Amino acid sequence: MKRVLVTGAGGFVGSRIMQQLADRMTLLPFPQGALAHATRSDVERLVERLHPDAILHTAAISDTGYCEAHPDESFRANVEVPLWFAQAARSVGARLVAFSSDQVYAGLKDRGPFDETTPLSPSNVYGRQKREAEQRILDVLPRAVLLRATWLYDLPGYRLPIRGNLPLNLLRAARLGEPLRFSCRDYRGVTYVRQAVENLLPALALPGGVYNFGSENDADTYATALHFCTVLGIHPTLEQTSWSRSLLMDTRKARAGGILFDTTAEGTVHRAKSFPIVAQNAKKCNGEGANIYKPPAKTVY
Ligand SMILES: NC(=O)c1ccc[n+]([C@@H]2O[C@H](COP(=O)([O-])OP(=O)(O)OC[C@H]3O[C@@H](n4cnc5c(N)ncnc54)[C@H](OP(=O)(O)O)[C@@H]3O)[C@@H](O)[C@H]2O)c1
Repeated sequence: MKRVLVTGAGGFVGSRIMQQLADRMTLLPFPQGALAHATRSDVERLVERLHPDAILHTAAISDTGYCEAHPDESFRANVEVPLWFAQAARSVGARLVAFSSDQVYAGLKDRGPFDETTPLSPSNVYGRQKREAEQRILDVLPRAVLLRATWLYDLPGYRLPIRGNLPLNLLRAARLGEPLRFSCRDYRGVTYVRQAVENLLPALALPGGVYNFGSENDADTYATALHFCTVLGIHPTLEQTSWSRSLLMDTRKARAGGILFDTTAEGTVHRAKSFPIVAQNAKKCNGEGANIYKPPAKTVY
């Protein structure tokens, strides 16, 4: 089995990699919580010792607001740390697959969908750092694969770390009776994280370069939110705004490499029955008296 070093193994994507791919590769997690304080030589030493065939680099500071407020800290996490892994991967001959983001497109004025040749226009610190990381990683390691991921989601109920995502925000709003605002001129793909994790297997075999990675989505974010509410059987108050943005991605390049995603709408419908919250609501509708969803205060579901 391939030996794969996983960074960010305690995070949203990384923890699902550890659970989902464990039967298909030997997964070697970077010690949890250590990267925030590790030095470049710590990274080099660990990579040399483990000598992995590949590195799946998911570690990052991915909260855009936090990056805006702490640009130096997030530069280290989002540019320097991935570069250390690129350099270490090169020295042991390992593949590197690292996450970038659809936020690199955020400042573009037209509606897209954008392909990987589109000149980029990130509009925030996080997006600019992701763009810089892409460029500098490829300079060091042209065989590296950089995945521009859409907004990812999972539902509570699996006892894994979870972070803010569209259906989770909708569930919270429904429970707390707080309105949520979405724009009918904001466009982006929203992708089921487990399909993204599954697609890391073909991603490991891609030629080096940048790839759009996630679900395509024709609907605006307001319509997408309504669609999720229908699938989840919930009725939060949704308010419509009209600020404009598009992060829509053309995913043909990844498809040519065997990476297939449902559209955002297909993804929800295909997986709805497996979501614990949907099963609970279905039981309620059938008079089986299931509990109303109450997320616990901590972030592990
Ligand atoms: N989630 C999304 O919707 C989304 C969308 C587009 C792109 N992405 C990208 O996909 C990747 C995975 O995202 P995610 O949602 O899994 O991220 P996450 O849960 O926010 O964090 C991933 C992990 O990064 C590590 N980390 C935290 N602070 C760090 C620091 N200061 N320095 C170095 N490492 C640090 C931690 O790993 P340990 O817990 O193991 O210590 C953390 O669990 C990221 O590159 C993110 O930018 C995510």
